[in-house]
Amino acid sequence: MLKLFETQDGSNSVFSEKFGVGYHSKYGAIRETRHVFIEAGLFYRAIVKKDLNVLDMGFGTGLTAFLTFLEAEKLDLRVNYTAVEAYPVGPELTEELGYPASLQAMRHQAVFNEMHRSDWDSPISLTENFVFEKLLSTFESIELSEQFDVIYYDAFAPATQPELWQTPMMQKMYELLKPGGVLVTYCAKGVFKRTLRSVGFQVEALKGPPGKREMTRGRKQEILTA
Ligand SMILES: C[S@@+](CC[C@H](N)C(=O)[O-])C[C@H]1O[C@@H](n2cnc3c(N)ncnc32)[C@H](O)[C@@H]1O
Repeated sequence: MLKLFETQDGSNSVFSEKFGVGYHSKYGAIRETRHVFIEAGLFYRAIVKKDLNVLDMGFGTGLTAFLTFLEAEKLDLRVNYTAVEAYPVGPELTEELGYPASLQAMRHQAVFNEMHRSDWDSPISLTENFVFEKLLSTFESIELSEQFDVIYYDAFAPATQPELWQTPMMQKMYELLKPGGVLVTYCAKGVFKRTLRSVGFQVEALKGPPGKREMTRGRKQEILTA
């Protein structure tokens, strides 16, 4: 069972009774998503690449996907966006989230709707420059044949889902990154950063969104040619 709640920046989020946690920070769903995933992830890679493969681990409300779409349009990026989700948010809630209005992006309401209504496991072109696919799968069982420039890692926190922050999953994420690619997440736990390092990531602690001192960016080293 999922319930809508309002966060402190005025944007909505949902609370999962199954997991006993909210999908976003109470300090602001849009503020957190923009800070952690868009600014530290998408913008960071967009400085050097305009053609990006993005993997969204936890499609949820679709907020990260929709924000990525809006920013990609502004920056004239070409994006192949893959989102993974095992427990979809139903249509009754997605209509109430109000993200296009909160983001002053009503002209893209149809894009947000399409992200939710589109078939699972079937890519669609939302625009000429933005291909979107959502995969109905658990993180544990997903198998992907391509590699990514940016991974938004947004599982529930380690206290709720410890197995999703441990070595096997981080090894899998490392293998899914292109050289030079980054994984960004709100989690800043020391044990998690050590796990990232142990599988090969270069780890940076960055300033966190409101309510969190730090967040984490893990980078897969570029292959240097002579
Ligand atoms: C913190 S929320 C992600 C919020 C999302 N980024 C958004 O913008 O709404 C975590 C998401 O991961 C999904 N999830 C949790 N465990 C999962 C698993 N083992 N495999 C796939 N998805 C999972 C949840 O259903 C939820 O949508």
